[in-house]
Amino acid sequence: MTRFLVFVLLAAITAMGPQSPSSVASDGAPAVTFNKDVLPILQRNCQTCHRPNGIAPMSFLTYTSTRPWAKAIKAAVINRQMPPWFADPHYAKLRNAPRLTEADIDTLAAWADSGSHEGESADQPADINWVDGWRIRPDVVVSMREPYVVHAKGRGEIQQFVVPNPFKQDTWVTSIEIRPGDPSVVHHVIVQIPEQSPPAPPPAAAVSGKKCVNCAQRGPIVRPAVLSTVVDAIPNRQGGGSYSDIFARHEERRTGHGVFTTMEAVYAPGTSPLDFRYTDSAKLIRAGRPIRIEVHYTPNGKETTDLTKIGFTIAKTPAHRRFVLMAPEHLVDSRKPIPAGASNWETKGELTFEQDAELAWFMPHMHLRGKDMTFRLIYPDGRKETVLSAKFNFNWQLGYELAKPIKVSKGTRMIVTAHHDNSGNNPFNPTPDKPVIWGEMTSDEMMLPWFGMIVDADARPNMIASYKPGDLDGPFPMMNIRTPSITVFADRN
Ligand code: HEC
Repeated sequence: MTRFLVFVLLAAITAMGPQSPSSVASDGAPAVTFNKDVLPILQRNCQTCHRPNGIAPMSFLTYTSTRPWAKAIKAAVINRQMPPWFADPHYAKLRNAPRLTEADIDTLAAWADSGSHEGESADQPADINWVDGWRIRPDVVVSMREPYVVHAKGRGEIQQFVVPNPFKQDTWVTSIEIRPGDPSVVHHVIVQIPEQSPPAPPPAAAVSGKKCVNCAQRGPIVRPAVLSTVVDAIPNRQGGGSYSDIFARHEERRTGHGVFTTMEAVYAPGTSPLDFRYTDSAKLIRAGRPIRIEVHYTPNGKETTDLTKIGFTIAKTPAHRRFVLMAPEHLVDSRKPIPAGASNWETKGELTFEQDAELAWFMPHMHLRGKDMTFRLIYPDGRKETVLSAKFNFNWQLGYELAKPIKVSKGTRMIVTAHHDNSGNNPFNPTPDKPVIWGEMTSDEMMLPWFGMIVDADARPNMIASYKPGDLDGPFPMMNIRTPSITVFADRN
């Protein structure tokens, strides 16, 4: 028996259970075929992205469209490039982790090495019924008003599109999916329903003008009129994408109580739709406030248009558990630049849960120098647990869903540690010879540990957790004011 057949036999035994030797080519039929062996693996692991209107450039739905990629598929799965995934498997079990097994990898490799045969159509599994490109089956879809033209060349840009809120009353939604119109030019999308500003501080406490925008003082220091003047000074209020209302950010920084509910959903290549159903929770979408869609475009050499859509599934009954997407803005001291050449620059932030809750989802966000991010819990009884440790890759900003939400009781601390590589060894690093500051441009850095919590339906989101802001006593970075009207990014690659 050739090594190949031994190999296939082993693969067959581990992957599919015992099989009769006759299925392994003693009659001359190809041992591994697309229809029998490969397609089921592609359906389970690859077609979410590799299908028409999916985010990947080629479809793996049919033999004809997959066949030319056989060798590339083998290489991509053997070197763990596909499916994209960066979490260390030693920690909490993740629901959206790829299910590709060693046996699957062996089967894909054997198919590539044995002539990539199609096999019998009778062996084919039923097609997966992808709904016009959607992964959820949306009840309500909103989209940008008209397609946006993305030019062939030029630098990247962030655009914001404000669309009417489709909900006439506050609505519990059970999943949200963001679908870029042309994934090849969409680097990320953030969907927000901006929080209402907190009440204006009393005029006596207000200090005027620019001075206060760039200084930090305790107490309500910024007169809304001043701040809105500054914000309005940004032409069209485009760009510099902030993740929340500027007052909310200021308030978070001032008090350490976040107005954390600043994003409804986020898309980046590789993210799954946010699905709250498996945790028996839902997200509350407030009626009456417009929806802001922030899109980061990166030209890809061909002029194209993009019409990004957002789909929602609606809860049949009011939820008793609320999913809240937390985006703590100032967990680390953003005054300290990352020194030039630092290859493993560590930043650490900590927050404390102020009420019982469940942790459900994580999405580390950094920029080109991001290396890894780790979330650790210290429970009130002193017990420690690492929940997620994930490498970071700017091109694949993944969300990680806990298979089973983790209960955190009041007083539990969450420590988030991140590393950045600002050295010349980091191929993404545009300026290894310069220190890098914190900011929203891709060429700046960030350390944003986004995470999802489940709380009682009537809990106040900004009371779920608190932290000591890292930079209360220093200059207020005001990153979104510093950035220009259309934020300019380096081209991808
Ligand atoms: C989360 C979405 C996603 C999943 C899941 C996924 N891919 Fe991909 N894949 C992409 C995208 C996007 C690209 C193109 C960009 C790139 O190459 O990084 C790609 C590129 C590829 C390439 C081309 C690589 C090259 O060398 O150019 C291969 C081969 C591939 N995928 C195979 C697979 C296989 C096999 C699976 C399943 C086992 C899979 N992918 C799962 C998104 C995905």
